Amino acid sequence: MPEIVLDQLCKSFDGHVAADSLSLRIADGEYVCILGPTGAGKTTCMRMVCGLTRPDSGRVYLDGRDVTDDSVDSRNATMLSQTYALFPHLNVYDNVMFAPRIKGWPEDNSRQIVRSMLHMVHLEQKADWKPDELSGGQQQRIALARALASGSKVLLLDEPLRALDARLRINLRKELRSLAKEMRLTCIHVTHDQDEALEMADKIAVIRKGRIIQFGTPRDVFENPATPFVANFVGRSNTLVGKVVSSGDETVVEMPSGARISARGSDLQAGSDAVVTVKTGFTKLVRASDDQVQGAFLEGTVERVLYEGVTITVEVRVDGIGLISAGLPNRKYDDYSAGDRVGISWIPSKASVFRMPPEGLEEEMRLD
Ligand SMILES: Nc1ncnc2c1ncn2[C@@H]1O[C@H](COP(=O)(O)OP(=O)(O)O)[C@@H](O)[C@H]1O
Ligand SMILES: [Mg+2]
Repeated sequence: MPEIVLDQLCKSFDGHVAADSLSLRIADGEYVCILGPTGAGKTTCMRMVCGLTRPDSGRVYLDGRDVTDDSVDSRNATMLSQTYALFPHLNVYDNVMFAPRIKGWPEDNSRQIVRSMLHMVHLEQKADWKPDELSGGQQQRIALARALASGSKVLLLDEPLRALDARLRINLRKELRSLAKEMRLTCIHVTHDQDEALEMADKIAVIRKGRIIQFGTPRDVFENPATPFVANFVGRSNTLVGKVVSSGDETVVEMPSGARISARGSDLQAGSDAVVTVKTGFTKLVRASDDQVQGAFLEGTVERVLYEGVTITVEVRVDGIGLISAGLPNRKYDDYSAGDRVGISWIPSKASVFRMPPEGLEEEMRLD
């Protein structure tokens, strides 16, 4: 049995649904990121795992044991909350030492753990300081060190890197993950930052409106999104709407402009409304010679070239469709400029195709 099992958890607050039959199975030692927009139910999910919130129905299992009715203290799951409450009267060292002391671990061992946790968050020099003498980011790192020193096998991190400077946040991603692996922790890490989730997670659970809509490896979630929402939320995608011409090993979809584009295989009915999504990074451009574009799905005119550092984005205006973005490596920067005629294509198997959601595309793509 997996280490953490959430079985059809439901939770409402005054009739507002925060968890809607939420199920998830997390293996021993796995690092899972829960990714979703604000209000999706991420914090509620974590609070139900550690026992701070009781589900209206459904069960929580930790290590094969039904803990749904157990107290927070008896669960062996530590949560680092969004509001990282430190003890204001204790210095940094004693804050981190809190759990080892309570648990009565040998002093030498505890001291070593606390030192290595402070080292990992780069705050060894601040061991004597009080929390209110530290910046918000430093306080958050202390809270992280304190959670890591708790000795729990299950660590629940609610947006643990949120308050940190960009540079530090990115450095800490690797360190946090390798530390969790080294300590053989099972981690659930909540974030609304897709890059953080893609980089850190063994598996990503995409949550929306209190439901897990996809649970898979970062590559799976990025390349094989389960819904148009996931396609749009994880990474950047172009979204195209049209009517299915034929399906099978490849799906051909006709755009309102009459152009035909291809996506991966499906069993969609000919004539039905479909949504095609293709990551900007999978979108290829071919230059038109003498204004003729050969073999591309769509044709358009370059409107802007955005410089982003490692990558660039070429925005192409396609008549009857709108703007299509192609993410290209930096070295292509001088190849395109506004006004150029280009063709747009992609490998069909890299484009996802979905039945038009019954509630419409706009509702499907909403971020709340
Ligand atoms: N204690 C609470 N009382 C009332 N509503 C709550 C409470 N906790 C969460 N909610 C509501 O439940 C939904 C999910 O909240 P939350 O789990 O905090 O989402 P997230 O962490 O993904 O932003 C939100 O609409 C939020 O307003
Ligand atoms: Mg939250």
